Amino acid sequence: MKLKNQKVLIVGGSSGIGLATAKAALEEGASVVIASRSMEKLGKANHSLGQKAMIIQADLADKNSLETLFREVGPFNHLFISAAEPKTGLIRDTDLEDIRSSLETRFWGTYCATQLAAPNIARDGSIIYMSGNAAVHPIKGSSVGSASVAAVEAFARVMALELAPIRVNVIRAGLIDTPLLDRYGNQRQGIIEGYSKRVPLKRIGSAEDVAEAAVYLMKSTYTTGTILQVDGGALLI
Ligand SMILES: NC(=O)c1ccc[n+]([C@@H]2O[C@H](COP(=O)([O-])OP(=O)(O)OC[C@H]3O[C@@H](n4cnc5c(N)ncnc54)[C@H](OP(=O)(O)O)[C@@H]3O)[C@@H](O)[C@H]2O)c1
Repeated sequence: MKLKNQKVLIVGGSSGIGLATAKAALEEGASVVIASRSMEKLGKANHSLGQKAMIIQADLADKNSLETLFREVGPFNHLFISAAEPKTGLIRDTDLEDIRSSLETRFWGTYCATQLAAPNIARDGSIIYMSGNAAVHPIKGSSVGSASVAAVEAFARVMALELAPIRVNVIRAGLIDTPLLDRYGNQRQGIIEGYSKRVPLKRIGSAEDVAEAAVYLMKSTYTTGTILQVDGGALLI
């Protein structure tokens, strides 16, 4: 119960990694606020958490919405930004305005949320951002997703200096079994099997694997400016 009397805000907490982290933080004794765009998803998520979280509708892409969120949350201890809706596409095929929104949300949303959160986070608290192996391992079609997570990693290192003693860390995940993978449609299973065959740990990650890392970063009081790799060893090969 190392997070007892601590308040954790998870933006993107209604699904996947964010939701698993909400559960893990509750188990460590924290009070938890989950935020995302859909009240319906938030309601279902909170049902799965035994109605133990507080839910607030918020859009990482919308400054007004984030201002309302941080006003409602008040002082707190840990911010985890798990929200994202990554877009993919080969450069020859993509519409610029459509694809740029994913970088806008991931990078400027993270910037804005950090700016609004910093005055309200406890001095011994922390911020955690999500990144993925695409930040360092190129995959055709992932140009904007890769650039946006790489930007967040670089941003995090600067924030670790500027906001200290508040700690700022990043989780860089490999392929994780969450609703995000539904966008692959009938290729989903093949992608999972291919990844599981390739990586040293021979399986895809679970949302709980990443939640474990997120809670570790909340509790680890001498860790800042780090990128924690949670990918089954994918980058070793
Ligand atoms: N799954 C993977 O393989 C993988 C790998 C590497 C990195 N990641 C990263 O890990 C993070 C979590 O992914 P996940 O797999 O858990 O995805 P997920 O299950 O789809 O969850 C995404 C969450 O973000 C919320 N969200 C999306 N856009 C938002 C916005 N503009 N404002 C507020 N909330 C928003 C969604 O809720 P609403 O729809 O209600 O807004 C949902 O709660 C993402 O940053 C993703 O890029 C995932």
